[in-house]
Amino acid sequence: MCGIVGYIGDKRAIDFLLDGLTKLEYRGYDSAGVAVNCGDNIFVEKAVGRLSSLKEKLKNNLPVGTVGIGHTRWATHGRPSDLNAHPHSDCHKNFFVVHNGIIENYLQLKEDLIAKGHKFISETDTEVVAHLVEESYHGDFVLAVRDVLSKIEGSYSLLFMSKFHPDTLIAAKQDNPLVVGIGKGENFIASDIPAIISFTRQTYILNDGDIAVVQKNSVNFINRQGLPIEKKIFHVKWNAAAAEKGGYEHFMLKEINEQPKAVRDTISPHLNGKVTFNELNWNEDFLNNINKIYIVACGTAYHAGLVGKFYIEKLVRKLVEVDLASEFRYRNPIVDDKTLVIVISQSGETLDTLAALKEAKKLGAKTLAVTNVVGSSIAREAEFVINTAAGPEIAVASTKAYTTQLILMFMLALYMAQISKSIPAAEIERLIKLLKKIPAQISETLSDVEPIKTFAQMYGFNDDVFYIGRSLDYCVALEGALKLKEISYIHAEAYASGELKHGTLALIVEGVPVIALATQKSVYEKTLSNIKEVKARDAIVIGIAAAGDSELEKYLDHVIFVPDTDELLIPLLAVVPLQLLAYYAAITRGCDVDKPRNLAKSVTVE
Ligand code: F6R
Repeated sequence: MCGIVGYIGDKRAIDFLLDGLTKLEYRGYDSAGVAVNCGDNIFVEKAVGRLSSLKEKLKNNLPVGTVGIGHTRWATHGRPSDLNAHPHSDCHKNFFVVHNGIIENYLQLKEDLIAKGHKFISETDTEVVAHLVEESYHGDFVLAVRDVLSKIEGSYSLLFMSKFHPDTLIAAKQDNPLVVGIGKGENFIASDIPAIISFTRQTYILNDGDIAVVQKNSVNFINRQGLPIEKKIFHVKWNAAAAEKGGYEHFMLKEINEQPKAVRDTISPHLNGKVTFNELNWNEDFLNNINKIYIVACGTAYHAGLVGKFYIEKLVRKLVEVDLASEFRYRNPIVDDKTLVIVISQSGETLDTLAALKEAKKLGAKTLAVTNVVGSSIAREAEFVINTAAGPEIAVASTKAYTTQLILMFMLALYMAQISKSIPAAEIERLIKLLKKIPAQISETLSDVEPIKTFAQMYGFNDDVFYIGRSLDYCVALEGALKLKEISYIHAEAYASGELKHGTLALIVEGVPVIALATQKSVYEKTLSNIKEVKARDAIVIGIAAAGDSELEKYLDHVIFVPDTDELLIPLLAVVPLQLLAYYAAITRGCDVDKPRNLAKSVTVE
């Protein structure tokens, strides 16, 4: 939540700040602001709303200074407004700060500062930080920042600028991401790599507790005690184009279409005749020592975890519980050194997931992170890490991250099955053969979007849509409903088909759209009878079925076919029409697909 950028060099800072904020707008977009040191004065401009409002305000008044900081906000404390937008400053406008995260003890600090005579103009937690620097400053900027960090509690990435020190920016990280990009005679600071990738691929990724003192020709790292830290340069492999729209109208559509490649890239490093995970190197003893597995995640990643449970339970025959990260650590989970906790996170920065991971570690569990961002906080915290290779996912609605998480969980289950010999080698071989076909089968699924567009146009203005399915189809239904809700704002609910008659069927009346997944052969007959139940109430039913299914069409208004494969792998195909349906429904309703209201890509607050 919230995006931070900073520039120090010889060029006009505003150019990088606006470019960087554009790339980070997915992190928050309810207001934005910049502060640029222009020598005699610090130029500040803020605007509520999208970044375009700030750009509009700046159009004829671009500051020329070469040092600056910027922010795009997702409101937590204080509603979106010009006054609550960052950067925030102290009483005398000598110190400016941008912040991503939450200062948990800000109310107490604010009271103390007000008692000392400080005047606050915003409702934010961040403003206390600016006043605290003012209070702690006695000529040494770094010392003042260190003093502030010793007083604040919570999660943050912070970037400080001072009128008194035009040659220095100071960044600090705790539980929220921050990278420093290294240029020639210029340096960049940002919440995430896409903001700096067009300028440099050489980066430092900050760890919790790190403080970066950034000047145009140097970056020095110290810890909270002021002791120097040695950091390794991290070379970003993906190029700038990977974080651009590449001719598509929206990032979401681009990312849906990137799925064949993303899935292929995720599979290929781990296939070598059999499934390999060099980064795990587990053996039979290791697996014998695990008697329980938790999968913990949020949102779409949680839905991938639900599918992962099926994979591991079916192929490895070990008990798996799936939990929402925001619930896991608050209910005293039964976790010990015989538990494996798998956390799934595209960004690797989701605060709830990170906190759940830390809790699991504290309780002695073995921990494995499945992330899409190498070097992310979650990747660094976990004992074991395996990566999806989706490339940067910019659209708020997750698509390619989900399918890559599914394929990696499938491969993880196969890997564990190979080690524990829980299924016959021939079955593993058969499944490997099928998984290799998945990228091409996703391409096939993507090749005929016209019927999906038509359905979206037909049902795009309905108030309610229901998704039903059994077994893995139910897991996919949950993901399909989330996609529709978050980008089209249509009320969508997913139900396990067998549950309908226990209550929900009361909502099914004439003309209500129901998306019915019927790809799971093992429960096909039962699914069919549930579909007939909703059809009998005159619902409009769109079926999702495997190619070759000649039954469903007999009963349904419309059927979308996906290529046939094993029922464990078919979720990777069945989800694609649901992603497209959500996308085109949002387009039909004129919604801002890549930046849905109230949401942000990376949720680094609780
Ligand atoms: C929905 C979506 C979110 C994320 C969730 C977890 O489309 O993107 O539900 O899946 O916020 O994010 P990560 O995977 O980054 O931990």
